[in-house]
Amino acid sequence: MSKYKIKNICCIGAGYVGGPTMAVFAEHCKDIKITVCDINKNRIDAWNSTDIKFLPIYEPELDTLISECRNKNLFFTTDIKNSIENADMIFLSVNTPTKLKGVGAGKASDLKWVEASARQIAEFSTGHTIVVEKSTLPVRTAKTIEEILFNSQLNRSFGDSKTFSVLSNPEFLSEGSAIKDLQFPDRVLIGGQDHKAIESLANLYINWVPRNKILRTNIWSSELSKLTANAFLAQRISSINTISALCEVTEADVKQVSNAIGLDSRIGNKFLEAGPGFGGSCFQKDILNLVYLCEYYNLNEVAKYWEQVVKINEWQKNRISKLVVNSLFGTVSGKKIAILGFSFKANTNDTRNSPSIKICKDLLDEGAVLSIYDPKVDEVQIENDLNILNFDNSLNNSQDSFIYADSIEQAIQDSHAILILTEWKEFYKINWQIMFKKMKRPAWIFDTRSIIDTKEVERFGFNVWQVGNKSFDN
Ligand code: NAD
Ligand code: UGA
Repeated sequence: MSKYKIKNICCIGAGYVGGPTMAVFAEHCKDIKITVCDINKNRIDAWNSTDIKFLPIYEPELDTLISECRNKNLFFTTDIKNSIENADMIFLSVNTPTKLKGVGAGKASDLKWVEASARQIAEFSTGHTIVVEKSTLPVRTAKTIEEILFNSQLNRSFGDSKTFSVLSNPEFLSEGSAIKDLQFPDRVLIGGQDHKAIESLANLYINWVPRNKILRTNIWSSELSKLTANAFLAQRISSINTISALCEVTEADVKQVSNAIGLDSRIGNKFLEAGPGFGGSCFQKDILNLVYLCEYYNLNEVAKYWEQVVKINEWQKNRISKLVVNSLFGTVSGKKIAILGFSFKANTNDTRNSPSIKICKDLLDEGAVLSIYDPKVDEVQIENDLNILNFDNSLNNSQDSFIYADSIEQAIQDSHAILILTEWKEFYKINWQIMFKKMKRPAWIFDTRSIIDTKEVERFGFNVWQVGNKSFDN
């Protein structure tokens, strides 16, 4: 049998990428056994839970796919050694967060999980193994992985025929639409030097992706394209957020501006929605990683250019918390504020780097009493994100300052203001006339996601601020 024939796949990392991606592979490659492994036992238990609603991540359509494939050709396990041993192809889908200490702290990606995985592969793999970078990695990481793998080859005793091909196959899915993005990708990118290995991977995708959407590049272009794509997407959000502030002082409306510029086919209409700033686990870390790489290669002007995208994102969050305080007569101390939405975007339970965290922390620091409702984020997650337990009760009352609300109504009851931070569908259907009656006066709505009809809610008696539309000075 050819050493490039794929019968067994292993995916290291059962997270937001590993789980959904392998579910889609399993659906389309029924004759391949796919094993997703992770060091996190709780996560694996959740993937294996008999009640499908306890999957570790929420993603539309994921539960159906898992029900169809799990324990048929898709398996979840903590047995990493065995999964690697049996695999012809291994996807690395481990986390690559920003380094917190040491060289490059605050900017460079922490590659310790990638390196640990590469060492496990070097130790446990057998025969020829195609190693695929699925995680987002700094350009030239494949070289590090190759070195770890090939050095292990050199250490083998004579006759041990362990060999490797390393490919880059970055993932472009967005949370909340992961399954759709994986089923119908704009493109699949495969970078590498070993053409037979590239074709092995391409042949898997051909089961559901049109051939003309499968791009082959050199490995460094593939790695860098992923960072560049995220940087460009985030740059558009920061750009429109700067314009939102200008709209608020000039009586222009950012939605009209977005629409007008988006109709220019050279600009395009996507990723032009002003908001509370981008969140999620990747945009910030990937741009900071790009900044770090540029600095490393002495491209300091390029580094500063991209760093500004992150700085504007921070500025947008800060200006929102400040304007809430200013609008409520300069103090929110002891005032109940209803927070609608905590996840970083709709249709996900992920709160990593959610703008809600920074904005809520700012308001808690000002003494506000937050009543937080999110349809998919649980209380423990919010508590962890806000570090509620770390507050010193003797200095402030923050422990009591966060209420987990089970419903929109409960969150809003007796509040001075409503702050909409995530664009969940159910928030579009709120009956604002009824909500107004439940609130203290003056009753404010701060709409960071442009989901309300400002004229209508003003008629009901609300004071309104909407991103890029109505200034708090109006
Ligand atoms: P995640 O934190 O949800 O999942 C990573 C998993 O890897 C964790 O469960 C962790 O326990 C596991 N892990 C770490 N080291 C391991 C090891 N040595 N052996 C076994 N398991 C190990 O992260 P994620 O959101 O799935 O992201 C993974 C990568 O994909 C990152 O590089 C990210 O930038 C990239 N990415 C993420 C998204 C997204 O939407 N989340 C999209 C595209 C790309
Ligand atoms: C993003 C990219 O879109 C994916 O292609 C990429 O694979 C992924 O990062 C990754 O590498 O992790 P994701 O972060 O899941 O996906 O979600 P997005 O839809 O990109 O939204 C990111 C943030 O930007 C959210 O907070 C969202 O609310 C915000 N956003 C998005 C806006 O404020 N305005 C927009 O017009 C679009």
